[in-house]
Amino acid sequence: MKSMISPSMMCVDFKHLEDNVKLLTQLEVEYLHFDIMDGEFVPNYTLGPDFMRVVRSISDIPFDIHLMVQRPEDKLSYFDIRPGDLVCVHQESTVNLQRVLQRIRDLGAKVGVALNPATSINSIEDVLDDVDVILIMTVNPGYTGQKLIPSTIGKIGRLREYLHVHGYDRIAIEVDGNVSFENAALMKAAGADIFVAGTSSLFIPGSDIYAAGQKLREIIT
Ligand code: DX5
Ligand code: ZN
Repeated sequence: MKSMISPSMMCVDFKHLEDNVKLLTQLEVEYLHFDIMDGEFVPNYTLGPDFMRVVRSISDIPFDIHLMVQRPEDKLSYFDIRPGDLVCVHQESTVNLQRVLQRIRDLGAKVGVALNPATSINSIEDVLDDVDVILIMTVNPGYTGQKLIPSTIGKIGRLREYLHVHGYDRIAIEVDGNVSFENAALMKAAGADIFVAGTSSLFIPGSDIYAAGQKLREIIT
């Protein structure tokens, strides 16, 4: 599967949003990653529908919407979800997981399920037919700039093997949290396909986004 880059939009310089998005377009990134937090599922608030509307008005890049909210099934309608987008909900955030995955599918978007570092791969065994992407959190969700939880590298490898054995090679593995150049190489070797790029790579303060993007692309290709 082709490796993909999904820049974390909570890490862009909001004062230079349009210029940053232009650079991401030149880098031909596959997605734009939006972290949606509700102050309940994770202890923070970040981006929301209004900000996403602004980005839609300046970009055609598909959205990768990462819902870190309780009961996402009640909140899908807040968002302008389009065919070609990817929407990820957390396994831990709802008792109606299959229902919300099906609703995302019905909207024509790609379907993702996200796992916190402590959540086992086996917990999604019964929804593999309903998903296109499994998002492995490589830090605990909520904040940028955290350190990788080392055991998550092994988890990516185990998941890739598990998917292969069960006949789900088509499912992409997305990684989110401290995807530095160094960690991206380890994640790629373990079997990751979609790399959420935040303050550890593309948006290192004071550094050149375009050069960083080219470097990341080289590492994961
Ligand atoms: C974590 C967020 C990530 C984060 C990744 O909850 O989903 O998008 O911004 O960036 P860094 O590189 O800061 O970990
Ligand atoms: Zn995220």
